Amino acid sequence: MRIAMIGTGYVGLVSGACFAEFGLEVVCVDKDEEKIRRIESGDMPIYEPGLDQLVARNRAAGRLTFTTSTAEAVNGADAVFIAVGTPTRRGDGHADLRYVYAAAADIAANLRAPTLVVTKSTVPVGTGRSLLRFFRQQRPDLEIDVASNPEFLREGSAIDDFMRPDRVVCGVETERARELLGAAYRPLNLIETPILFTGLETAELIKYATNAFLATKITFINELADLCERVGADIQQVAKGMGLDGRIGRKFLHAGPGYGGSCFPKDTLALLRTAEQHDTQLRIVDTVVQVNEARKRRMVRKIVDACGGSVAGRTIAVLGLTFKPNTDDMRESPSLVIVPALQHEGARVRAYDPKGMREAAKLLPGVEFGSGPYEILEGADAMVLITEWNEFRGLDLRRVRQLMREPRIVDLRNVFDPLRVVREGFAYTSIGRPAVAPGIETVLPAPETTAEERDA
Ligand code: UDX
Repeated sequence: MRIAMIGTGYVGLVSGACFAEFGLEVVCVDKDEEKIRRIESGDMPIYEPGLDQLVARNRAAGRLTFTTSTAEAVNGADAVFIAVGTPTRRGDGHADLRYVYAAAADIAANLRAPTLVVTKSTVPVGTGRSLLRFFRQQRPDLEIDVASNPEFLREGSAIDDFMRPDRVVCGVETERARELLGAAYRPLNLIETPILFTGLETAELIKYATNAFLATKITFINELADLCERVGADIQQVAKGMGLDGRIGRKFLHAGPGYGGSCFPKDTLALLRTAEQHDTQLRIVDTVVQVNEARKRRMVRKIVDACGGSVAGRTIAVLGLTFKPNTDDMRESPSLVIVPALQHEGARVRAYDPKGMREAAKLLPGVEFGSGPYEILEGADAMVLITEWNEFRGLDLRRVRQLMREPRIVDLRNVFDPLRVVREGFAYTSIGRPAVAPGIETVLPAPETTAEERDA
């Protein structure tokens, strides 16, 4: 089976390489010549663990090729996947479909035989059907079928998510589309992955509903963390106690500075716009979006309060800038709100992130970037941990204490054990956990979960 993948961004590149690993013949297309050249020389345009080896292996096996020519890619393809970006349209929150339609126009202009076109990009409900109409208009001579196959890939574990998904969703209109998608995902039958065949609109909505629900789950626990701080409860234990209920589940109950990234903020907004267009209220999702926005600003107050009410003239060392660990993606990261606000309040901000600094440097003017955590902590008045990279968990706190001007930690991801940090002589603020004063023995909190354990 041969497929074409239009767009070599995050989703296209990972999906293309993974389909090749499944044994399919995959041609990836991108208009950006420089990007194709880079990928072909082994330099991945994004940081995703294992992607470079996966691409190299499948290129060497001859199953994965790259081109800038849509004609070359789509001709002879059994299915053409559209995996281009659908960013938030400026001003109104709608998903911007211009790249999807540009790809569709390109496909329509170049196809010579009937083909199945599959949207992998996250597209609003109704897009698949309007693409069907579009193809009928453009190419009345050809039977172009359309299917929806949303992705559920998390950055940082995208390859594993593709290879071992919880489920695959395929929105199809014809038996032929069902057969083709069934064949593309056949290797997953071995691990008994549920493949859910639905109509087009249902598949499109499953994607948005999933992301909106996960964003709600995170926001729920974030608000409860605020209550924990007031009543002296521990959010880690509350989340564990809730999550052990099989109906709730433990994942996505880790309180923090608010969700970010390329999907949740964009997809929740786009879902709200879809609901509006169809005269339906999604009040829960609406509230989630607002609470999450406010939360990032609330984190600024938390930091300022921890510094005694003002950060003017203080040096703040920020550990972690990306929206989550194991990615270089800065999109909608809480750090993009928190860092400028601290600077606005007069703080001097130094920062370190294992992978995100190149991107962050473009977005965060005035920040001094260091080459490691200890470097930026030297002489700092506060350490603010925004992203829970594993390398921060093992920091030598004794050394940190000696380096800092004032031993103060604001841990926005509950990475550290409060008792231990306080015993090391730090003033410690975290999310939704009771304050621990030096000398006061409390019951040790449950061991912290790592991001991997949390999502396992
Ligand atoms: C998400 C979805 O998980 C994925 O299925 C979809 O296709 C794309 O969007 P991603 O954006 O890569 O993936 O990251 P994810 O791991 O889901 O985290 C999203 C945000 O939520 C991050 O900012 C993360 O820090 C935050 N988060 C996640 C929490 O604050 N607490 C949690 O318990 C989980």
